[in-house]
Amino acid sequence: MGQNRPVTSDAQPIHIDAGGWGLTWAVDHEGVLRQVGLGPQGHLATLDVDARWYPIAVPTWGGPDPYLPAALRVTHADGMTTTRLVAEGVERREVPGGEHVVVALRDELQALFVELHLRTHGSGVLEQWVEIHHDQDGPVHLHDYDSVAPFLLVHPDAELHQFGGGGWADEWRWTTQPLTPGTTTLDSLGGLQPHLQRSPVLLVSPFGPSTETEGDVLGLSIAWGGNTRFSLDVRPVPTPDAPAQLRLRAGANPYGADYVLDPGERFVTPTVAWTWSSSGRRELTDRFHRWTRARVLRDPERLRPLVVNNWEATFFEFDQPRIVELIDRAAMLGADLFLLDDGWFGTTHPRDDDTTSLGDWDPDPAKLPDGLAPLAEAALERDLRFGIWLEPEMVNPVSDLHERHPEWVLRDRREPRLHRHQLALDPLLDDVRAFEADVVDRTLAMHPAISYVKWDANRPITDPSSSALASDRRSNLWVDHVRATWDVMAEVVRRHPEVELMLCASGGGRTDHGTLRWFHEFWTSDNTDPVTRVRMQWGCSQVFPAAAMAAHVTRWGERPLDFACAVALSGRFGIDLDLRALTDDEFELCRRAVAVARRTQGLVQHGDLVRLVSPVEGVDRSRAALAHVGADRAAAVLFAYQLEAPDGSAPTLRIPGLDAAAVYRLSSTDLSTDEPVDLGERTGEQLAAEGLPWPLTDPCTARIWELERR
Ligand code: GLA
Repeated sequence: MGQNRPVTSDAQPIHIDAGGWGLTWAVDHEGVLRQVGLGPQGHLATLDVDARWYPIAVPTWGGPDPYLPAALRVTHADGMTTTRLVAEGVERREVPGGEHVVVALRDELQALFVELHLRTHGSGVLEQWVEIHHDQDGPVHLHDYDSVAPFLLVHPDAELHQFGGGGWADEWRWTTQPLTPGTTTLDSLGGLQPHLQRSPVLLVSPFGPSTETEGDVLGLSIAWGGNTRFSLDVRPVPTPDAPAQLRLRAGANPYGADYVLDPGERFVTPTVAWTWSSSGRRELTDRFHRWTRARVLRDPERLRPLVVNNWEATFFEFDQPRIVELIDRAAMLGADLFLLDDGWFGTTHPRDDDTTSLGDWDPDPAKLPDGLAPLAEAALERDLRFGIWLEPEMVNPVSDLHERHPEWVLRDRREPRLHRHQLALDPLLDDVRAFEADVVDRTLAMHPAISYVKWDANRPITDPSSSALASDRRSNLWVDHVRATWDVMAEVVRRHPEVELMLCASGGGRTDHGTLRWFHEFWTSDNTDPVTRVRMQWGCSQVFPAAAMAAHVTRWGERPLDFACAVALSGRFGIDLDLRALTDDEFELCRRAVAVARRTQGLVQHGDLVRLVSPVEGVDRSRAALAHVGADRAAAVLFAYQLEAPDGSAPTLRIPGLDAAAVYRLSSTDLSTDEPVDLGERTGEQLAAEGLPWPLTDPCTARIWELERR
């Protein structure tokens, strides 16, 4: 352990051009990294005063400011609890679509090495993470390990938007709140489906409220399939009207999750993807959607299939004839894929409800005497693909698997707690990881038409321990569990690159840009009440494109079926109705919705999203409207929803982003007729300036317009 020569203070500032915004760091005379600029011009910042006067870039425990929460807090091998980092060097290299910058820091005394990684991308989204390793005599304990910790000056009316709700069926609840003095922590727990509690996404408007098109707004997404934490430390300053100081930290939630890091091992924090728009949330969304398509989502160009699912239709009550009948109806509707949900497996213990059988992935001979093959065959014969539900990470105590391997579950010496009657397998065990990947292999091998998997995970971690972890490092579980699960998912993708995967965890419990890398889409929420869904999808759409957001028509909320269809059509469209129980009129309605989907899903899934009328902000939250505009502006689709009784005067729907000089043919439908109503022609300019009048008054009604350039 010796003193290391820091990068000297006359070293060039480190400019990070993140695309339309950025940041600048510089090293002061003591080698400490300082934040010189952040924001729209942040990457162009120059030093006006000596570097030492700028805020510290990475606050550490024992650093210069004893009042500041630390982004990095460790106990060194010798028991020392302070960390003071100095800069050692900067490395920059070109990578596809951007630049990867690594700023190397080390403790001035201890052999602790911290690398700050920044990866820019043409979309304007910056990926940032931290890598930590050391060369001390024993393990180092990491207590706080945030991925980013920017400093901002914020106005008194600064606000944030967060997405935390009551848990299951309440994802993406939109909450706007002021940034008040003190520390606000927005975190999630539970490990396996933490985003049911809170989505790992935050929007901050540092200079006062932002709108779709105006104002400064930062968006952050923690790409982590485990517990996450945003922490906002706001300090007012004594000068009247002067901006307050905000230290914003984001990363994996370290609560109960001290990480014991051995010498020579490398700890990589989750990536936080973030951007800063100075023209409101639409620009922020544009960037996140472009980045998600380019860097996260699998096969972004592939149009997602039109899925018919049987969960809400049958729950556990089905047999081969009933499913074949549904497949038949799905084909009559013109679907692409039939997805068989929970309840198809279990031999010793048939899966007739959620109390048994997870782990025993053989078809239930009572329901499906000839297995999955006849179902897949039935689908194939009708030109449908076949998909299957799996929950590979779980086991019911009542199962053959648990009988064989009671030692495979996450637990300590107590009897593990059941949740939904099930236990979570321990992916830190090699055999468990092999088993989980094998579950997918075996199931896919049952028939070549099985080309889609809904991967579910229906309980949190309640007994956070693993027999693979020594007793002094049980708290590593929270981080290691995510890594091990991602290893399995990566292996499945490697083995089955053509199979489409839907990510689900009791609904949207795993809705993050980290886990999504192995998937094509996610189940946004089990809550499919279309009124709630419009608001959920509004929140989710801030950072995720509609192609990723599975949205199915169900009976949830007992809303009118045409309205439910119109809502699902603005996401990745699917149907989860008992197709045999539909009246003829209802069946016709679904058929018309499928026809609209055929014409519009390309736009919905691949177009640019324009949110027009918000159902979550302002006085009148009774309506919503959004459009998806094709990248070449040749076509667009516009959705308007009247959710509740109007609570204010009707807005006009002005549609920006079209080709101003071009003439568009306009038609609209409320799904009551086969052909949309022809509304004549308008120029792009007219549609942007005069717009369309709001057509709805009754709750739970919808209108869909299609625009096509002539
Ligand atoms: C979870 C999912 C549902 C459904 C059930 C099956 O709750 O979110 O969509 O698949 O499991 O048990």
